[in-house]
Amino acid sequence: MNILLIGNGAREHAIAEAVMRSGNSPRLFAYMKSNNPGIAAIAEGVRLGSYNDLNAIKEWARENRIHLAVIGPEDPLHNGVVDVLIKGGIPSVGPTKSLARLETSKAFARDLLSKYRIPGNPRFRNFSSQTGIEAFLDELDDAVIKPDGLTGGKGVMVQGEHFASRKEALAICEAILAEHKSVTIEEKLEGEEFSLQCLCDGKTVVATPPVQDHKRRFNGDQGPNTGGMGSYSCRDHSLPFLKHKDIEGGLTITKQVAKAIYRETGEYYRGIMYGGFMVTKQGLRLLEYNARFGDPETMNILPLLKTDFVDVCQAIIEGSLDRINIEFEEKATVCKYVVPKGYGLPGERHDAASASEKLEIGPMGKARLYYSSVDKRDEGLYMTASRAIGVVGIADELPEAEEIAEKAATAVKGAVDHRSDIGTEVLIEKRIRHMRDLRGVMV
Ligand SMILES: Nc1ncnc2c1ncn2[C@@H]1O[C@H](COP(=O)(O)OP(=O)(O)O)[C@@H](O)[C@H]1O
Ligand SMILES: [Mg+2]
Repeated sequence: MNILLIGNGAREHAIAEAVMRSGNSPRLFAYMKSNNPGIAAIAEGVRLGSYNDLNAIKEWARENRIHLAVIGPEDPLHNGVVDVLIKGGIPSVGPTKSLARLETSKAFARDLLSKYRIPGNPRFRNFSSQTGIEAFLDELDDAVIKPDGLTGGKGVMVQGEHFASRKEALAICEAILAEHKSVTIEEKLEGEEFSLQCLCDGKTVVATPPVQDHKRRFNGDQGPNTGGMGSYSCRDHSLPFLKHKDIEGGLTITKQVAKAIYRETGEYYRGIMYGGFMVTKQGLRLLEYNARFGDPETMNILPLLKTDFVDVCQAIIEGSLDRINIEFEEKATVCKYVVPKGYGLPGERHDAASASEKLEIGPMGKARLYYSSVDKRDEGLYMTASRAIGVVGIADELPEAEEIAEKAATAVKGAVDHRSDIGTEVLIEKRIRHMRDLRGVMV
């Protein structure tokens, strides 16, 4: 089985590892925009190139007689890499460009839910010009403003966090409309978020264990938003603040979305449908869909996958997900990202200063290590400007998993930082209390 993996982050390192655990004698070929030493170490072939260069990807896949491709990040999906591979006879785990709109266009996703009467939308409206924005803002208490299109997780503006007044909101919308086709304005919700990464072959949807990510840069959920500083999942495949019906609700919505997207486009969605959900006082709401696995959330779930990952990929491609039993170990996981000190902070520290800092990796103990943005040179390992290394603790219970991850994160030396609070009791208690206060007397 020759498998093409596109992507160069810790998410893809975890995917690569899952592929290599397969009993299908996989041969892994990685197409990366920068070299991930973890992937390079287990791949049979590596090709460096841009995710815009679809021809290069297609040619390289053909040369290596690829049987199936797994697409990690959203950019190549948005560029239409799956369409190009399919034309070349190579099936992919990942949607075509049109279906990837579920992630790449927030307006498309919201409209799809509305049109097919799928629950989960907050009050929202899409605008392609300033007309009507002011009046709609007046109807909402607090608003969230979302550009249409990929923004690397840095485009969404939340009232009370990123802006305060209606005047600022209007200026933000104007700036967004200068660059994007449309802007979605929606009511600001309050609650706890979780990620439900679902596998989909177009007809069948299978949920993987829910995970909670931590976007804020610093302990105690302080500081700016990042791509994600770490995440945890629990042994019972729920989360301490969730009720069974919350997870069921997320899966039901996702199943309805899979059906709707087929009716809307006539195409089966084959890939990952990752719903970002929020449990609120009023019930479950959908924040967004991603058309791929989460980073860091992949590192929580793929190491627990008992079923052969390549079999899962084949089932997605062949439309036989209903005929395969997908199982995960009943373990708790904690993932922590080790990042350059300046990561996520505005200003010059972010790019330049941290880029050439050296990293030393100490003993990892029982933790697993996944490389993200690092540069392996003859003289050693260097950071780039982004998240450097993901460490994952896996154990029967959360405290032990946390301890394993924390020890490993601390063992990475250099001008680095990580969140020591992810997966700790203090933070989890806070989530439970938050949800209890919100739900109040509700069941
Ligand atoms: N309607 C909303 N109410 C409150 N917070 C929101 C809402 N929509 C998004 N957010 C917050 O903004 C973050 C980013 O929004 P999201 O829709 O996930 O876009 P992206 O991941 O592309 O930045 C969410 O994780 C959540 O914290
Ligand atoms: Mg998101």
